[in-house]
Amino acid sequence: MSPLTASTTAPSLAVVILAAGLGKRMQSQLPKVLHPVLGQAMLGHVLDVAVQLKPAKLAVVTGHGREQVEAYVAQWASRHADELAGKLEPQCFEQPFQGGTGHAVECAKPGWEGASEVLVLYGDTPLLTVATLQDLRNSRAGRPLSMLVGELPDPTGYGRVILNEDKTIACVVEHKDATEAQRQVRVINAGMMALDAAFLARSLPRIDTNNAQKERYLPDLVAMAAAAGEPGMAHLLPDQREIQGVNNRAELALATQILRDRVNTQWMLAGATLDDPATTLIETSAVLDADVRLGAGVELRGKTTVARGALIERGCVLTDVQVGRDAHLLPYCVATEAVIGAGAHVGPFAHLRAGTELGAKVKIGNFVETKKARLGEGAKASHLSYLGDADIGADCNIGAGTITCNYDGVNKFKTVLGRGVFIGSDSQLVAPVTLGDEAYVGAGTTVTQDVPAGALIVSRSPAVIKEGWTAKKRQRQLAVKANKA
Ligand code: UD1
Ligand code: MG
Repeated sequence: MSPLTASTTAPSLAVVILAAGLGKRMQSQLPKVLHPVLGQAMLGHVLDVAVQLKPAKLAVVTGHGREQVEAYVAQWASRHADELAGKLEPQCFEQPFQGGTGHAVECAKPGWEGASEVLVLYGDTPLLTVATLQDLRNSRAGRPLSMLVGELPDPTGYGRVILNEDKTIACVVEHKDATEAQRQVRVINAGMMALDAAFLARSLPRIDTNNAQKERYLPDLVAMAAAAGEPGMAHLLPDQREIQGVNNRAELALATQILRDRVNTQWMLAGATLDDPATTLIETSAVLDADVRLGAGVELRGKTTVARGALIERGCVLTDVQVGRDAHLLPYCVATEAVIGAGAHVGPFAHLRAGTELGAKVKIGNFVETKKARLGEGAKASHLSYLGDADIGADCNIGAGTITCNYDGVNKFKTVLGRGVFIGSDSQLVAPVTLGDEAYVGAGTTVTQDVPAGALIVSRSPAVIKEGWTAKKRQRQLAVKANKA
C-alpha cells in the first residue's frame, strides 16, 4: 500500500489525530487512547470516523506509549484493509516531547502537506459522529478555519471561545491563561478544527509559547486568522455528549455508556426489540436485521450479525458470530467465531467455540461444547456433549454424554459422521474415526474403529443377573461386623 499523494488541483482532505498525550489521570500502563470504549480502543473509534470522511491522507501523532499506539494503528489498518482498498494508509508521526497541540500538528506536517484541507481530531474523544465532522467542515465555507465548540454548564479546564457578534471567533483563551471574566464564558473549544491547509502551513510556525503552560497552542491560530481580517467560524455542537472526552476511568465508563445507548437506540429504531437496553451491549461493528429480539444482558461483540426473526435470550455473549434467520438462542450461551444456521435452537448454557458451523434447524442443548464442529441440517446434540474437530452429517442424533476424543495430548484428529448417524448416550468417538450414513452406536460404546454405513457398533460386556444377591451380601457384611465386636 502506498499513500495517495494529494493532487494539487482537486480539493483533498487530510485528517490528523492527536494521540501523543500521557493521560496521567488514567493511571495506566496502557496509553490512554488504547483504552476500550464499547469493546474498541478510543483511537479505533476515531479512525473509524476519520476513514468515513474519505480523506486522501490520515495521520496519527504519537508520543507517550508510541510503540503500542503505532502497533495498534497498524493492526487497525490491517483489519480495515478492504475499506482502505490500498488507497489510504494511516501514517504515524512521532512528537518527541509534549510541545502542545500546535507542535503536535507540526510534527505531522508530512502527513497533511499537499492536501487542501486539514481536519484535526483528538484520539481521546471517541464519540464524535461523521455527520458532526461534515457539518464542521461545511461551516468553514472558505474561511481559514472552523472550530467545533460546545456550551457546557461547567467549562472548567477547557479553552474558552470568545465569539464576535456574527459567530465568528475573536480568540480562544486557555483556562489557565484566562481572566476571571473570561472564565465565566461557557462556550468552549471542543478541540476539533477544520483548517485551510495553506493557512495552517504559513501560520503554524508563528505560534509561540507565551502562555501558562509554555506550550504551542493550536487554538492560537484563531487569533491569527482574526488579526488577518479573516476570522474563523464556530460550529456549535447540538449534542454536547459527542465531545465527551476521556481523562479518567469514570469518564471512560461514561463514554461507554453514551455510545452503548446511542448504538442501542439506533438498532431499536431500525426494528430490533431490546428487552432491557440498559444492559444490552452491541459493539459498533455488529449488525442486526429488523425483527430480532435480544434479552437482558446480551452482548454482541466484534463482527456479529443477527438475521431477521432471531431470538437471543438473556445473558448470551456472542463474538464474531453469524446468527441465521429465526434462530433461537436460549439463555446464557457463549459463542465465538461461529455460524448458527436458520431456525437453529441453541442452549441454554451452550458453548460454541471457534469454527463451529451449525446448519439449518440444528439443535444444540444444554451443556454442549462445540469446537471446529460442523453439524448438518437438522442434526441434534441435545445434552452434555463435547464435539471437537467433527464433521457431523445432516439429521444425526448425538446422545447425551457423547464425547469426541479428538486430542491425544500432542495432535488433534477428526471425527466424521455421515448423515442420519445415531450415537447412543455416553459414547466416546476416538478420533480419527469415520462413521458411515445411518450407522448406529449403542449406548456406552467406545468407538475406536470406522463403522460402515447402516451398521451397528456396540462395545458392552454381557450383563449378568444374580437373584437374591443383595440380601446375601448384607448377611456377609453383618457377620464381619459381629466378629469384630
Ligand atoms: C485542549 C485545547 C483546549 C480545549 C480542550 C478540549 C489546546 C492548547 N487546548 O486542551 O482549548 O478546550 O483541548 O478538550 O489545544 N496532544 C498531543 N501533543 C501535545 C499536547 C496534546 O498530541 O503536545 C494531544 C493529546 O493527546 C490530546 C489532545 O492533543 O488528544 C488535547 O490535549 P490535552 O492536553 O488534553 O489538551 P487540553 O489541555 O485538554
Ligand atoms: Mg484534554
